[in-house]
Amino acid sequence: MDVGYRIRPAQAADVAAVCGIEGAVFSDPWSARDFRECAASGVPFLIAEQGGIVVGYAVAHQAADEGEILNLGVAPSHQRRGVGRVLVEGLMALLADRGAREVYLEVRESNAAARRLYQHVGFREVGRRPGYYRRPVEDAVILRTSISAETRRA
Ligand SMILES: CC(C)(COP(=O)(O)OP(=O)(O)OC[C@H]1O[C@@H](n2cnc3c(N)ncnc32)[C@H](O)[C@@H]1OP(=O)(O)O)[C@@H](O)C(=O)NCCC(=O)NCCS
Repeated sequence: MDVGYRIRPAQAADVAAVCGIEGAVFSDPWSARDFRECAASGVPFLIAEQGGIVVGYAVAHQAADEGEILNLGVAPSHQRRGVGRVLVEGLMALLADRGAREVYLEVRESNAAARRLYQHVGFREVGRRPGYYRRPVEDAVILRTSISAETRRA
């Protein structure tokens, strides 16, 4: 889907803009230090931008053949335009390149938008972590998907 957004690897210079979005969309946001460490460590960390403005980001990590999506956010004024989906698909492609065969993530039980998005790209519920989140305390739903042979070849 052409959403007019460019997806590219994150750099240290993106952290301030990413934190601005993170603070707007999460009640318990990551710190600038968390994002700086991700940018410096070489984990899959993608930016969506439009006209040079950062409008979304996604972070994952990987160990052996398992990937995990750690964070995903889209600026409120750019939501529902396909940005989240292309960020997740971009992360999946990067994880596939690095040898991942399956990908996990945790999402708040009440986060209907994210759960819908992940369902659309093939994730399915495989478990729960009671009381996993803070501010407010809430269960995490654990989602999993396999990376298809097509994604690995793309
Ligand atoms: C979840 C989030 C990243 C989605 O980003 P987005 O760019 O708006 O998502 P997309 O436009 O790519 O949506 C893809 C699909 O997800 C579902 N979806 C996205 N937002 C939705 C919403 N508010 N309500 C219901 N379904 C939604 C839809 O099925 C949508 O497809 P459609 O628009 O064709 O119906 C965004 O809402 C966000 O930043 N939320 C706050 C942070 C967050 O919850 N991150 C995830 C933590 S695990």
